[in-house]
Amino acid sequence: MHTIKASAGSASYEILIGNSFLHDALRRPEVSSAERIAVIVSARVDELHGEYVRRSLGDLRGRSVLLLMDDREENKSYAHAERFLEKFIAEKLNRRAIVIGIGGGVVGDFAGFCSGVYMRGIPVIHVPTTLLAMVDSSIGGKAAVNLTVGKNIIGLFHQPFLVVSDLHFLESLPAGEVTNGLAESLKHGIIGDNAALELLEGNGPDSLRRVEVISELVAASARFKSAIVERDEREAGLRSILNFGHTIGHAIESSMGYRGISHGQAVAAGIRIKVEVCRRMGLLSEAEAGRVNTVIQRYGLMPEGPDLDIDQVIRHMEYDKKNFGDAINFVLLAGLGNPRINQRIPIDVLKQVMVEMC
Ligand SMILES: NC(=O)c1ccc[n+]([C@@H]2O[C@H](COP(=O)([O-])OP(=O)(O)OC[C@H]3O[C@@H](n4cnc5c(N)ncnc54)[C@H](O)[C@@H]3O)[C@@H](O)[C@H]2O)c1
Repeated sequence: MHTIKASAGSASYEILIGNSFLHDALRRPEVSSAERIAVIVSARVDELHGEYVRRSLGDLRGRSVLLLMDDREENKSYAHAERFLEKFIAEKLNRRAIVIGIGGGVVGDFAGFCSGVYMRGIPVIHVPTTLLAMVDSSIGGKAAVNLTVGKNIIGLFHQPFLVVSDLHFLESLPAGEVTNGLAESLKHGIIGDNAALELLEGNGPDSLRRVEVISELVAASARFKSAIVERDEREAGLRSILNFGHTIGHAIESSMGYRGISHGQAVAAGIRIKVEVCRRMGLLSEAEAGRVNTVIQRYGLMPEGPDLDIDQVIRHMEYDKKNFGDAINFVLLAGLGNPRINQRIPIDVLKQVMVEMC
């Protein structure tokens, strides 16, 4: 069992990582002191692990209400949040109530948002059930919902009260969802989390499924991300290193209409392209780029030759709010573990790399 102490702004909380310990984690004072508990559970997780969740709640069930959420991305919406907030009122949640979100990043963002705005903010406990949510979205306090015009438009920073990463949930996680989490851990490994990079290099898809290995990876990523957030909660500067590979990844996903490529594959493609750009600019050595590419290949993170319309990918990048002017604003690497924010890449260099790689 790993216990990581995290803090951001005036909040401090613990991230617990272990196997099959949800029942014990829910006996902690952060939970047992609550008068009412709204448990927002992914309907899919409830199908797969409903009995485990109910057993773990045990005698807390008398004070809890279970609210199932169909966790499709389109339900992470402002309109859906309003319906859940009305349920909080109907269930008599007051300022001494807490929210527990059990699910992937969709449920985590949604539970974080609803708890953050309800009565000007009540505590939220995240129980992430996907690898991506364990290594990334449950940590750092970003909570947001979508509007029809765009993703994560309405949101706030609302740090969790506690994060419970129970690896038991990962047993049912499909391979594609594992890829999404591994891409984020690889990103951490490249921008400064040497422990995560070495773990990925020292293992393979099979050994990584072992609890003792995956718990080390989740702990390394959680430690790294929370340390970055501690230094820059509101993304005034440093925190934006966590966007490494994402500007290109998001542009690939949107240019393909979010079909035929997963988020993790798009991020891995973004990482691969960015690493090659850094190598050509003389910022990364051949050997460093080789280490990253080996991991991408070993875990099958990137689809072979995605069929990309490169001009369209570039156009999508130009729309991205982080970009401006005739060059695109990026996080670059001056060596593995040495990210530099607000760097510019001439579009023709980027285009050339994409033409050759995709
Ligand atoms: N707040 C942040 O800092 C942050 C960071 C990254 C991503 N996000 C958000 O996270 C979301 C993506 O999160 P995600 O990748 O976890 O996706 P997700 O929540 O959509 O979950 C992926 C799929 O896995 C299923 N699932 C969840 N747990 C499972 C389990 N244990 N076994 C089997 N199936 C399971 C879900 O039902 C869903 O179909 C996006 O909305 C994104 O915007 C937020």
